[in-house]
Amino acid sequence: MALYSDKVMDHFQNPRNVGKMDDADGIGEVGNAKCGDIMRMYIKVRDGIIVDCKFNTFGCGSAIATSSMATELIMGKPVEDALKLSNQAVVEALDGLPPQKIHCSVLAEEAVQAAVKDYYDKNGIEYDPSLFKPMHNCEACEG
Ligand code: FES
Repeated sequence: MALYSDKVMDHFQNPRNVGKMDDADGIGEVGNAKCGDIMRMYIKVRDGIIVDCKFNTFGCGSAIATSSMATELIMGKPVEDALKLSNQAVVEALDGLPPQKIHCSVLAEEAVQAAVKDYYDKNGIEYDPSLFKPMHNCEACEG
């Protein structure tokens, strides 16, 4: 069996929504201290809906594939739904990732959450902090 699914290979080789967004409403940047990969997620929000989303990832193929899939999963969705996007949902949408690459999907989840938080903060929108999961990025984690 191939290590990576066709979907992972497709999103790695033809990533969707890559690039910078100059007029983003929210920008989230996260990194994994262990592997050194960095992911930046941009969202544009109109009437509570994510109408555009882009990402820049300096990282491994799985990080690129998971960021690409994450943008597809949150595009056109309410901001609150993006906040609920789990790394497991991203992995499932990609038809799986090898166990040693699961942490790459965590980075995608965190980048989306960081972008939403930035959007809330910039617009003075109150939110329940418990909706945000604690970041996983620490030297101690198995990342
Ligand atoms: Fe670091 Fe994939 S190896 S995010």
